[in-house]
Amino acid sequence: MGKVFVCDHPLIQHKLTYIRDKNTKTKDFRELVDEVSSLMAYEITRNVALEQVEVETPVTKTTCHIVSGSNKLGLIPILRAGLGMVDGMLKLMPTAEVGHIGLYRDPQTLQPVEYYVKLPTDPTQRELIVIDPMLATGGSAIAAIDLLKKRQCTRIKLMCLIAAPEGVAAVQKAHPDIDIYVAAVDEYLNDHGYIVPGLGDAGDRLYGTN
Ligand code: URA
Repeated sequence: MGKVFVCDHPLIQHKLTYIRDKNTKTKDFRELVDEVSSLMAYEITRNVALEQVEVETPVTKTTCHIVSGSNKLGLIPILRAGLGMVDGMLKLMPTAEVGHIGLYRDPQTLQPVEYYVKLPTDPTQRELIVIDPMLATGGSAIAAIDLLKKRQCTRIKLMCLIAAPEGVAAVQKAHPDIDIYVAAVDEYLNDHGYIVPGLGDAGDRLYGTN
C-alpha cells in the first residue's frame, strides 16, 4: 500500500492556517500556496538520487554530491487549481519539465473526462509528481494517474495541499502503489463535495473567481 506523508513542518502548518482563512485575499492566498508548495517540494524530493562530482573550492579539490542527472522529474498539475502549486515547486527543481492534464466531470456519468493532455518529454523515464491542491473524492487524481499508467509511466507520486479521508481511501484503492504527500488530512467531504474544514474552492481562491 502506498504511504500518506503528512508534511507537518511548522512553517507549512503556519502558512496553511492562513491559506484556510476565508479572510485571506487572493494575492496573499496565491503567495502562501506558492510558499507551501516550495516547502512541500523539499519533503517530496527527500529521497532523490545523488551522484558524486569533483569540485575545486578556493582551498582544495573535493568530492561533493549533486542531484543525479538520471533522476529526471516531471510535474503534472491537474488544471486549473494544480497550476497554483507549480511555480513554488519549480523554484526548488528548476529543471523539472511541466506537463498538464485537463479534466472535467461529465454531468451525466459524473466521470472525469480528459480535455487536455500534454506530458513532459520521455515521461516513462521520469519521476512524475501529479499536483492538485484538493484531494476530495479522488476522481481527478485517479483519472490522472490512470492516464499516466496507460502511457507506461511507473514512477508516480501525488501531491496535494489538503486531502479528505475519502479521497485518500479512493486513491489507495485504485492505485495502491502510489505515495501521497499532503499538508493535512481533514475531517470529511460534505454533500457539496467540499473538504471540511478545507479552504473552499482552491481554483476560485487562487484566481479570484467565484
Ligand atoms: N475542490 C476544491 O477546490 N475544494 C474542495 O473543498 C474540494 C474540491
